[in-house]
Amino acid sequence: MPRSANHISRRRALIQSAGFIGFLMGSLSPLISVATRHTQLTPKQSLGPFFPDDGDEIDSIRENQDPNLPISQANDQDLTFVKGRKGKAKGQVIYLNGQVLDTKTGQAVPKARLIMWSASSSGRYNHKGDDGTYSFPHPKTREAVHRSHDEYFQYWGQTVTNEQGEYWFKTIVPGFYPIDLRAGLYRPSHLHFKILPPKASTFVTQLYFRGDQIPNNTLNQELLPKDVVILDAGLSPEEQERVIVDYAPDPSGKKTDGLVGHYDFVIPS
Ligand SMILES: [Fe+2]
Repeated sequence: MPRSANHISRRRALIQSAGFIGFLMGSLSPLISVATRHTQLTPKQSLGPFFPDDGDEIDSIRENQDPNLPISQANDQDLTFVKGRKGKAKGQVIYLNGQVLDTKTGQAVPKARLIMWSASSSGRYNHKGDDGTYSFPHPKTREAVHRSHDEYFQYWGQTVTNEQGEYWFKTIVPGFYPIDLRAGLYRPSHLHFKILPPKASTFVTQLYFRGDQIPNNTLNQELLPKDVVILDAGLSPEEQERVIVDYAPDPSGKKTDGLVGHYDFVIPS
């Protein structure tokens, strides 16, 4: 082969290999970002005062009558109705699904118990300790908001992850509620979670809402960075973003009665 032809073919090989490396990096980058996302620990947040301990409830909801079960584990993962009661919870229905993952390995955590609890759609807990302001003016519209009990709302539920570490819940969007009206402090709509993995310690956090069809969506986004729990937990703006779940109509069109959101909990080993 003449020298110039050899030179050209070497150059072409270099260009081609550079192109291949670029292609490889391009095709790997989504994998790398997924891996990073899956190993980034879900930010921890406080349990709050309204965990459903036995005896704290105002309206006793026990779908499972087994007396050995703590009340927090006596109800299933569909909070939109209570078995034996003829009615449905008020509020925007949502489905939340995802996985529980190990932060070290990114692997699924099977058999992890998740307990979820929240306020009703008007922002009232089924808890004796929730005796704060029952009525208040909506901070934007000034219309009266009545924080009331909903006898058809299940308030808390539990589930256990399958072999793929997957879970799901069906519930309603809880109302935002005031913490200190004079100071203009409110908690944005949120869901509480306590996760009991089979081999690691209990993990506690809260998730927030975003979506065009989420009630008080704009207000919720404004309240979030000033939220007492977010501030107490010291979450950075990036960490705050990681505890917000986007809800939208089901892209597959299968779930027609509610919005769908996805969240993977990444917990310590
Ligand atoms: Fe709360």
